[in-house]
Amino acid sequence: MAAADVPGEGALVLPRHRCAVVKNGGEVQAFDLTCPHLGCTVKATPEGFACPCHGSRFKSNGEVVAGPAPRALRRLEVAESDGVLSIVREEG
Ligand code: FES
Repeated sequence: MAAADVPGEGALVLPRHRCAVVKNGGEVQAFDLTCPHLGCTVKATPEGFACPCHGSRFKSNGEVVAGPAPRALRRLEVAESDGVLSIVREEG
């Protein structure tokens, strides 16, 4: 995806890859949308992310705002080359 595709506010959701890319303070960050509670797919909201299964909410930087999720969304490494972003998904 092109770096220019990432919106200044909100998230660029990549459903096929179950991840989202956001800009936080000018920094491009990517998150795995798998809820750390029981594995549902969280949805992007104006404030960050929310899980439809049991109501966990997360900031746009992945931090937990409200449980039951026990930890933040998993951050994925983003690499940029010539304006093209690649997400590095770790195994496991
Ligand atoms: S699976 Fe997300 S809150 Fe339970």
